[in-house]
Amino acid sequence: PLVSMTAMLNKAVQGKYAVGQFNINNLEFTQAILQAAEEEQSPVILGVSEGAARYMGGFKLIVGLVKSLMEEYKITVDVAIHLDHGSSFEKCVEAIHAGFTSVMIDGSHNPLEENISITKKVVEVAHVLGVSVEAELGRIGGQEDDLVVDDAEAMYAIPAECDRLAKETGVDCLAPALGSVHGPYKGEPKLGFDRMEEVQKLTGLPLVLHGGTGIPTPHIQRAISLGTAKINVNTENQIASAAAVRKVLAENPNVYDPRKYLGPAREAIKDAVKGKMREFGSSGKA
Ligand code: G3H
Ligand code: ZN
Repeated sequence: PLVSMTAMLNKAVQGKYAVGQFNINNLEFTQAILQAAEEEQSPVILGVSEGAARYMGGFKLIVGLVKSLMEEYKITVDVAIHLDHGSSFEKCVEAIHAGFTSVMIDGSHNPLEENISITKKVVEVAHVLGVSVEAELGRIGGQEDDLVVDDAEAMYAIPAECDRLAKETGVDCLAPALGSVHGPYKGEPKLGFDRMEEVQKLTGLPLVLHGGTGIPTPHIQRAISLGTAKINVNTENQIASAAAVRKVLAENPNVYDPRKYLGPAREAIKDAVKGKMREFGSSGKA
């Protein structure tokens, strides 16, 4: 069923695993991620960036598409449709109105006071409708769609600020930027585990790890042990999908039917997602 992230993530904290947020980019990503979740019997969060929503045809189309596929595939596992890095109160309300079951309000580029006030506004609307809310503090480096944060701007979240934001807004989960990066890492990621532990203890909230692509498994496990209950992955699935398309087209220069190269891309995404679900420990936790 279509649900918010709240129960999903609280269960994950208890069970010491993390639910994957896998971003959708097109029809094949959506199909692959839903199929992977059902086959793994894993809860799943479909991440939708504003850019991806524009590309695919808008929030309403996405909700309709996900609902239709869930019916077609007879999906039994918990699925959340989540706005990824929502840029404004208005965008969050638009997604909620379209039927999203969860939103992230990314007020991390604002001063703390403003981040708190905009997050609080979103929570007030979302919670009336049973929609969960994720907030961000600090700044996650790298690039995702319209969101570009260069190395100098990337910032670690401050635990005392996380505590204040959590208490004053009532958010359901929190993404403290602690050295993770969108897109591939240059060298090993340097995650601030001490702060992660501190933020979790202070706020008591399930934590979210953005930039899940390229984080070594031991770091993933450590993050989960410190209260990370949601891990976002996009680039890794995009790379798997692109590699499959390249292979088919390189080996078969006469192919032009999109089903011939997007079908294999879909399989590659599905395999990548299943691997992540096992790595995050969410397989069999539906
Ligand atoms: O919000 C989405 C994620 O943080 C994705 O990060 O593309 O580095 O896997 P990634
Ligand atoms: Zn992110």
